[in-house]
Amino acid sequence: MGNSSFRNPDPRRPNLHNPGVHIRRAILADVPGMVELGKANPAAAQWSRMQYEQQFSKSPAANDFHGPEHFALVAEQASELDLSAEKRIIGFIVASGLETDWELENIVVAAKSRGGGIGTLLLAGFIDHVRTGNGRSIFLEVRESNQSARALYRKVGFKEAGLRKGYYADPAEDAMLYRLTFFEVSHNETAP
Ligand SMILES: CC(C)(COP(=O)(O)OP(=O)(O)OC[C@H]1O[C@@H](n2cnc3c(N)ncnc32)[C@H](O)[C@@H]1OP(=O)(O)O)[C@@H](O)C(=O)NCCC(=O)NCCS
Repeated sequence: MGNSSFRNPDPRRPNLHNPGVHIRRAILADVPGMVELGKANPAAAQWSRMQYEQQFSKSPAANDFHGPEHFALVAEQASELDLSAEKRIIGFIVASGLETDWELENIVVAAKSRGGGIGTLLLAGFIDHVRTGNGRSIFLEVRESNQSARALYRKVGFKEAGLRKGYYADPAEDAMLYRLTFFEVSHNETAP
């Protein structure tokens, strides 16, 4: 089933609230900045450095044609060149896909930079990647109490897709599941 309310914010649109912010594909050298940002934000999925680094391992593996594809974007504060490369990373999104089905694994924006559209730009960039690769759906889990993230997901068209009781620990909490499903365009129109 398609999702009729899907809206795709244009990730190339200038971000008026954060004029110096540049969204780009993440590289291995961004991992220290991503780890720091993740640690500073308890609501984000807490990954080790190794888990982030695995996002940049060759994918799919040479002997595994069905291995997952990884995708990561960072938001960089490009106007503050006096900051270390690590400190310039103010947001990121990481995801993985198996064939046409994707999972959004983590999205974080630095607390001082929230509310200015960076989360929307990161999500829109990821959605563009999935759509242009003919992806079929994006799935995610989020803490039930995480109202800002849930509002962001709804804003770009995700629909609630269930609940996992007691999914999270420290503190224990249920997970809300969300899914964004793309239209499959029909080409059955009769020629004039
Ligand atoms: C969720 C998060 C990534 C949003 O990033 P952001 O840059 O602030 O998001 P945006 O400015 O693009 O806001 C997009 C939408 O999110 C919602 N939103 C953002 N902050 C919100 C808040 N404090 N309260 C309610 N809704 C909020 C709004 O719907 C907003 O759209 P609007 O500006 O048109 O009203 C950010 O709050 C964050 O990093 N949180 C901590 C990590 C986290 O919870 N990650 C999700 C794990 S599943």
